[in-house]
Amino acid sequence: MLFDPFKRKINYLRISVTDRCNLRCRYCMPDEGIPLIPHEEILTYEEIVRIVRVFATQGISKIRLTGGEPLVRKGVAELISRLSRIEGIEDLSLTTNGVLLKEFAQDLKQAGLKRINISLDSLRRDRFSQITRKDDFQRVWEGIEEALRVGLSPVKINMVAIKGLNDDEVESFAHLTFDLPLTVRYIEYMPSGNGEEWKEEEILTIPQIKARLEKLGPMIPIPPDRWDGPARRYRIQGAVGEIGLIGPVSSHFCDECNRLRLTPDGKIRTCLFSDEEIDVKEILRAGGSDLDLKERLFVALRAKPERHQINTHQFKKCQRGMSAIGG
Ligand code: GTP
Ligand code: 5AD
Ligand code: SF4
Repeated sequence: MLFDPFKRKINYLRISVTDRCNLRCRYCMPDEGIPLIPHEEILTYEEIVRIVRVFATQGISKIRLTGGEPLVRKGVAELISRLSRIEGIEDLSLTTNGVLLKEFAQDLKQAGLKRINISLDSLRRDRFSQITRKDDFQRVWEGIEEALRVGLSPVKINMVAIKGLNDDEVESFAHLTFDLPLTVRYIEYMPSGNGEEWKEEEILTIPQIKARLEKLGPMIPIPPDRWDGPARRYRIQGAVGEIGLIGPVSSHFCDECNRLRLTPDGKIRTCLFSDEEIDVKEILRAGGSDLDLKERLFVALRAKPERHQINTHQFKKCQRGMSAIGG
């Protein structure tokens, strides 16, 4: 088992397989995109598999593939199939914007993916286009339906709630859980994109969201499952689906943090809000041994900060944006 200096058990690695994305969410990127990592710097699937194989021997048991948009990289299902066969990997999931999901859901399921998280900030086609700068709402919705149809479970929808942008849709998202076996998760807006300027007053806080949801019916807490991330889980009475509340700004959950992140170019990041990076690609490409890789993992663990500094005067925006970290 892996522990960091603050006695947190670290068992989760989020792997960003690409910084490329087929949407341009305003809070994440400018319209023209951001400078991309050159192809030769991006870890090959061979390299990712080796890292996971070595880290799994040390206690990493939960893997999530993210991006950018992971499904724009060719062969992600093949990667999943290889990762799912690694001894010690017990939970394997993916976070996607859903644009390509209708095409890939079946392949992903067959490859061994159990569950999926889909980012969707509006249920209105016009607003979806305004937020993401692409007219793809229908494709994403069909992707969600396909994910349910092929039996990925749970299917979680991530909604970043931003005042003045989509805050009037909080209830419409919750209504989905009355009819469909989906988990709708509300996420506080964080200062982490390369897009439009983040303003604290635009955060719709989790307590504000919860107060509004409680008007739809009693919110029954669901005890955490062992694979749960930072979401607090509820079911609105009478609903088939679930609600998840993720409040990194108002409640910060750093004392429960169990994760490290791997960037597309092979650096371990110790926190979503720290620019500290530990290079593992360097070891791989210099012919390093598995022991060398393990040592880099331990360096990363020792460097993991106690908490993020959003909300304090020490906060500094990260150099890398979300699209090259994976959220
Ligand atoms: P589950 O395992 O399904 O619970 O997933 P998850 O919540 O770990 O992953 P997902 O990719 O769906 O992330 C949901 C939201 O939580 C995203 O907006 C992430 O940026 C945010 N999030 C995930 N991990 C962290 C973290 O360590 N710190 C902060 N501040 N936010 C995080
Ligand atoms: N604040 C909160 N969530 C964000 N995401 C991307 N940028 C931000 C931000 N600034 C979310 C995406 C996706 C997840 C991986 O991170 O919407 O659901
Ligand atoms: Fe792409 Fe995700 Fe950024 Fe939107 S938030 S542009 S889907 S990486």
